[in-house]
Amino acid sequence: MILERQNMLNINQIERELSRYSDDDEIHDISKLVSYYQLCHSAVSEFGTKLENLDADYQVRHNHNPIHHIEIRMKDVSSLIEKIERKNLPVKFESIKDRIFDVGGIRVITNYIDDIYTVEENLLAQDDVVLLKRKDYIKNPKDSGYRSLHLVASVPVFQSDGVQVTPVEIQIRTIGMDMWASLEHKLRYKTEEPDEKVAQYSESLQDYADEINKIENNMQEIFHNL
Ligand code: GTP
Ligand code: MG
Repeated sequence: MILERQNMLNINQIERELSRYSDDDEIHDISKLVSYYQLCHSAVSEFGTKLENLDADYQVRHNHNPIHHIEIRMKDVSSLIEKIERKNLPVKFESIKDRIFDVGGIRVITNYIDDIYTVEENLLAQDDVVLLKRKDYIKNPKDSGYRSLHLVASVPVFQSDGVQVTPVEIQIRTIGMDMWASLEHKLRYKTEEPDEKVAQYSESLQDYADEINKIENNMQEIFHNL
């Protein structure tokens, strides 16, 4: 099952975001930006199909399917601009193309921790997939407690005028890690609570991340012993 969070580009929104940049920077070339978004969307769809095919294969030929569900999303333009600024990159189209690899994103939610590495192996075994970046926040969790396997991988996208090898960010995590990350993300970005309360919640969340990890390891062990 693929859930796509539709995030269509809106020309008025893009113009509003870009109006802050007064010089004749290339970022103002909306057609380039829109074409690149479309390319990244196609790359995400390619990975989506690969994952759906794996899901079907596991369903038909195996007793256990590592994939629980798949989510795909396109980065919205305001977070894209915010990221360019945060990374101190020049606000121009090349910065997006050469330095930002998560315009298109896929999240694979798995049942167990081992399943994460199975999905990784199955994807990277495919001839047209190239791994560009890998961060294992399960073996090395972030200070926040965040756990996930992050890959940036490219796939060829065949367009009317030729092939474009295009990167996609793939986050692979268990149901428990995903539940934790959703709440922690809300706390981090959406909270209206006072700072002390947020600090207290963050501390609890660090402990809960370890507890969830322990529970998921124990449940995996039961599953393997069945
Ligand atoms: P960016 O340039 O910010 O993407 O840096 P990076 O590539 O080093 O990013 P990183 O590998 O940390 O992953 C960024 C993405 O992972 C974010 O957009 C979130 O979706 C997720 N993420 C990373 N750290 C956390 C965290 O502490 N909490 C939550 N909830 N999500 C996180
Ligand atoms: Mg990233």
